[in-house]
Formats: sequence, structure tokens, C-alpha cells
Amino acid sequence: MNISIPQFRTSLHLFAGVLFLLTFVAAQPKSIAQRVDSLMRLMTLDEKIGQLNQYTDDGAATGPVTLDKDKPQQVKQGKLGSILNVLGSERTRSWQKVAMQSRLKIPLLFGQDVVHGYKTTFPIPLAEACSWDMDAIEHAARVAAVEASAGGIHWTFAPMVDIGRDPRWGRVMEGAGEDTYLGSRIAAARVKGFQGKGLGSTDAVMACVKHFAAYGAAVGGRDYNSVDMSERMLWETYLPPFKAALDAGAGTFMNSFNDLNGIPATGNAYLMRDILKGRWNFQGFVVSDWGSVGEMMNHGSVKDPADAARSAIMAGCDMDMESRCYTSSLAKLVTDGIVPMTVVDDAVRRILTKKFELGLFDDPFRFCDPKREAKALNDPAHTAAARDVARKSIVLLKNEKNLLPLSKTTKTIAFIGPLVKEVKQNKGFWDVELPGVDSNFIVTQWEGVQEKAGKNFALLYAKGCEIEGNDRSGFAEAVSVAMKADVVILSIGERRDMSGEAKSRSDLSIPGVQVELAMELLKTGKPVVVLINAGRPLVFNELADKAPAILYTWWLGSEAGNAISDVLFGDYNPSAKLVMTFPLSVGQIPIYYNHYNTGRPATGDNDRHYRSAYTDLSIYPRYEFGYGLGYSPFTYSGLKLSSGSLTRSGSIQATVTVTNAGKYAGEEVVQLYLRDLVGSIIRPMKELKDFRKITLAPGESKSITFTIDKETVSFYDPQIRWVAEAGEFELMVGASSRDIRLKERFRLTD
Ligand code: GLC
Repeated sequence: MNISIPQFRTSLHLFAGVLFLLTFVAAQPKSIAQRVDSLMRLMTLDEKIGQLNQYTDDGAATGPVTLDKDKPQQVKQGKLGSILNVLGSERTRSWQKVAMQSRLKIPLLFGQDVVHGYKTTFPIPLAEACSWDMDAIEHAARVAAVEASAGGIHWTFAPMVDIGRDPRWGRVMEGAGEDTYLGSRIAAARVKGFQGKGLGSTDAVMACVKHFAAYGAAVGGRDYNSVDMSERMLWETYLPPFKAALDAGAGTFMNSFNDLNGIPATGNAYLMRDILKGRWNFQGFVVSDWGSVGEMMNHGSVKDPADAARSAIMAGCDMDMESRCYTSSLAKLVTDGIVPMTVVDDAVRRILTKKFELGLFDDPFRFCDPKREAKALNDPAHTAAARDVARKSIVLLKNEKNLLPLSKTTKTIAFIGPLVKEVKQNKGFWDVELPGVDSNFIVTQWEGVQEKAGKNFALLYAKGCEIEGNDRSGFAEAVSVAMKADVVILSIGERRDMSGEAKSRSDLSIPGVQVELAMELLKTGKPVVVLINAGRPLVFNELADKAPAILYTWWLGSEAGNAISDVLFGDYNPSAKLVMTFPLSVGQIPIYYNHYNTGRPATGDNDRHYRSAYTDLSIYPRYEFGYGLGYSPFTYSGLKLSSGSLTRSGSIQATVTVTNAGKYAGEEVVQLYLRDLVGSIIRPMKELKDFRKITLAPGESKSITFTIDKETVSFYDPQIRWVAEAGEFELMVGASSRDIRLKERFRLTD
């Protein structure tokens, strides 16, 4: 075949172009997906299963411990892909060095429960949620990530986003309370804080949204207990915070221990395959909770470790924390054809992808920098952040005759109670105990008040009693100290480990003889300010009735003393609002604000006959969702709607004016609730749909506008479809779910 010179030249150019293109493409850095695929092609089945296996570090446990002698050997053999509870850049470096001796040098992933701070300890999450301050909450997680990542941590097992409506459940302290809308906002804020500029940034830690799902609805408030609810309740109340966290970019999820409608969450394909990886298209990976794969044998959904491994991996649980079912049984399940290789490959791919995204293959030691660690863990800006959010988390429950703020001319203060001089108690549950780090960075309540005292006033002390027990021998000294003072501050409450994991309580009273001590001090006639330290709502009716001033101080972390004294002396005007209902008694539980009306609603305590009410107790809680006082009253006026009818494609605006009617500058959390008066499925009496936290100088007014659109009024129908139904709505604006100040109505038109 003869070809002309021009034709030859054209073919040459074409060939050169294709060659260049291929060279160019080959020279391009491989995408993460390509790098994962290349690596997986080299991996043996055992090495793949190794990536699905996670153990705790030796000597550290946040669950029932299984002792292995040869963890380093397993790492060298590629049989262990992640270790939790490894603390400090030195320790993580040493483990990573072992991983670099493995055949494929796949870096280890280090996980840690950085739930409310790493070294700098922030208020327990339930307290922080009461700030309703999304920026402050995000910033707290940001600081925790900066410190934890400097300490070698890649991944935090947080945020916990379980809706909590039952204060008997000790883990309410880890969450954001009872409301789905607020819980969703906070979930997103915490994920953004932890992940910052994104995985790959050395000051980011990968978030882990937990516990998937509905763990907070455990029967009887007993931890790890069964959960049984309608699919619609699951979607309407418990799932949205998980979706909000996913939408915020969370890299991982964690199973919950509970069974859900008869299927353990760890083996629940509906949760992980249908919803999370299917409908929500989640691309990250799921880690089991501690031992929860193996615990399916206790649940009775599987017969042995191999069956547990099969059930979990097939349901979408990618990594097995501490149960050892994957490492002992998965290989045979694959070779026997019971678990398809594609299922294992998908799990491995998800985990390796996150390790690549974190930059661990580029530099396995990029998070282990002692210099960066030393700087990050001693940054005064972190301390300031902790103090800021701590004071925003303190809830003023009562302040008769404006006893607070205390006058700075007070001559003598008696600071009494078993928590006054406690150090670590202020950290609450799920703190991080760093080896070799002294706790003297924690500002005790005594130190915080003493700091204010200085030359201003004399500060007297008596312990009075212990947190628990019935020893009243300290009462006399406490009373005598109180008699010498102008005002008494009494700090009482739970021990910090009375709330948290495996800390369910059937009795929510303040333990020991602390309330008796309070009553003795009240009998002196001295004004008594009570600080209640706890990780959950407690029941304290006699105290609530008789004490003139009460601050709920939760567990506020490393700046507890300073935050408390800032509020006591008016250097900060308390602005926090409760995110969980406080019951009058355990008998009222579960009690939450967004309940249905029922066919026989009690309209008040004098209307309980043939009503949905107790014959022996008020229908109202002690303190409602959204409740919290400040030193300045706020008034609401002029609620206006831009229109009385909302169209499906449009929106309406609700505008209200809020005024600071007091003499202290302060912040108000203006809450917007809606009620859908008639629905194809009944709707709650009210639902929080938006809020604004605003700051007002004394006498200042601000106008706030909320926007309502079809999304605002939508809900899940019985077929789990997200629908908005035409009809009438009541719009409420208020200072709490019960303190509704103004109302208006509007219609959603067809
Ligand atoms: C615990 C907790 C979980 C935690 C994990 C690792 O049992 O349930 O929230 O992240 O184990 O410590």
C-alpha cells in the first residue's frame, strides 16, 4: 500500500500526539482510587482482613479487655489496621514504625474518643449544647482536633449524635439532648470543627458519627438495652442528626450496641446498606462499637464468631473494633464462598481510601510531631476558648430577688460543698487522660472564685459532706462557716463517673446527704447560691423550691472555676438554655416537649380527670426544653408574617422584635416553634424549627427574621416519604418551649 509523504507525516503527528497523551496521563499523580486499587491488587486476603481489624492499645481500655500478647507481631504481619487509645506523638510514632516493617507498609489508623477536648477539656457535650452557640461548639471541636492531631490522633469517635429523651441513660451527657433540629445543627457543627479544612490537613481529625442508630431510645434508659420503634419515628426523630453529620462531611460512622426492632445495629443491613450506604450514598466506612460484632451472639442473632463476622460484614460494618471475629473467621468465610470477596474488598477500599485522604501513605508520621504537640497542648487561645464556651453552657435555673450576680462589694463568702476543691471531677466523663500531663491546668471552682476574691472579699471554706454516703459530721462546721458569711455558695451534685457509658441510674436524686446539707445551710437564713454539677438532668424538687438561686454547672472542663466565677459575679450574663427536659420525678420519664396532643389532653394541672395525665403528679416537668434565665429579662413584640399563606415553591418571613429590658447586656436564644394543626399523621404539639442567639445591650431592641418554606413544614409520612401537606400551621416564638411569647397562624396552600 503506497502512502504519500503528507499522509505519513499526519500519521506520525497522530502517533506522537497519542504517545504524548499516554505519557502525560501516566505522569499524572494517580487518583486516590487508582492508588487504592493498585495497593489492593498486591494484598493477600489476610492483609485485607487485617485492615478491617482494630484493637485497643495495651493498657488502655474503653470496654471489656481481651489480652493479646503479640500485637506488634500482628501489625508486622499486616493483621491489624487500626489501634485506638494510643496517646501522644511518641507512642503513635512507635506504633507506626512497627507498621512500616510490614510487607506493604500500610500505615496504622489511630482512633481516640476525643469527645469534648483532648488536653484542653471543654464542657461535656450536653452542657455545651445548652450554649445554642454553633460557632462556639464548632470552635471547641476545632481546638480539640488541633490538639488531638498534634498528639498523633487521626480519627475521633465523635460526635455522638444520639437523641436523648431519658435522663436515666447515662450517655445523655455525650449528646445534644432531646431535639432533632437542634441535635442536627450541633452534629454538623461538631463534624466541621473536627474535620476543619478537610482530611489531609494535619490539624484535622476524621469524625465518627455515633452510635448508629437510635441508641438513646434504650428501654428503661438502661444502657445497651433494646430499642423498638416505628420506622417513621426512626426517620423523624433519630436519624436526622446522622444525616446532618454525613452532609457535613463526616468520614466514618460507628454502630450502636442496641438491637433495633429485633436486629442488632451491628448486623443491621437496613441501617447500613439500605439507608447509610444506599439512600444516603455514604462513601466512608463504618466501625463497630467495642466488641459489638461478637456481642451479636449475646443478642441471639448469630450462633458463633464466624456467623457474627458474616452478619456484620454483609450488613455493612467495615471494621471490627476489638471483637476479633473478623480476624478469626472472615478468611474462611470468603474461601468457603459464604462472604463474597467483593464485600471484603468494598470494606478494605473504604478504609484505605480514608488512610490515603488523611495523607498517611504520603507520610505515615505526619501527625507525630512532638514540637507541634507541645505547642498545641499549651496554647492560651485554647484555654480562652474553653472558658468562653463553658460560661455559655451554665444554665441559670432560679434567681430569686436577683441574688445573682453577686455584688463585688460582698465582704465574706462561704464556699461550701464536696465539689468546691475537686480537680478532675470538673472534666466529666469521656475526658482524655494524657500520660505525663499533670491536671493542675484544670481551674477548680475554689480557684475560680478565689481569683475574683483577691482583696475584694474573704473566702471561707467547708466541705460539709462527701458526694455519696450518709456522713453528716461535716454539717456543723459548714453551718458555722456559713454563719460568718454574707452569702453562701454551695457546690454539690453527682460524681463525674455517675453519668456516661454504662452509668444508667434508676434514681436521679442528688446523691448522699448533699441536699440535707443544703437545707441546713438554708436554715441559717443566709442567701444560698447552689451550683449543681452533673452529666444529666437530676431531680431536686425540694432544693428547687427552697434555694433562692440555682446554677446548673454540669461538668465544664478545664476552665470550670473561671467560667463559674464569671457568671457568679456578672462578668458573664448566663445565656444557656436546657436541651433536655428536667422531669419532676423519674415517674414522668420519658417526658419531652415535642409530644403529641392525644385525644384527651390535659390543659393544666386542674384538668387531669379523664385526661392524659397522672393523678398524683403535675403534667409539667420541673424545667422544660429551651428553659434558662439570665440577669436581664427580654421582651418580645411585633410578631409579623410577610404573608398568611405559604406556597410550595415560596417562603414567608416571620419577624419579631426582642428587647433587653434589664440592666445587663446579655444574650437571648429566640426560639421558633411550629405546630401543624392537622396532618395525615398526627403532628407534635410543637417542634423547634429555628432559633437565633442574639446579643443586646441594656434597653436595646433587635428585629429578627425567620424564613419558613416547604422544607420547614415537611415531615415523614407513614411510607417514609418527606411530604408537606396543605393546611393550617401555628407559628410560635418564645424564650423556651413553654414560655411562648407570641403566636401567628399561616396556611400552606395546595
Ligand atoms: C465504647 C463506646 C464508644 C467508644 C468506643 C471506643 O464502648 O460505646 O462510644 O467510641 O467504645 O472507646
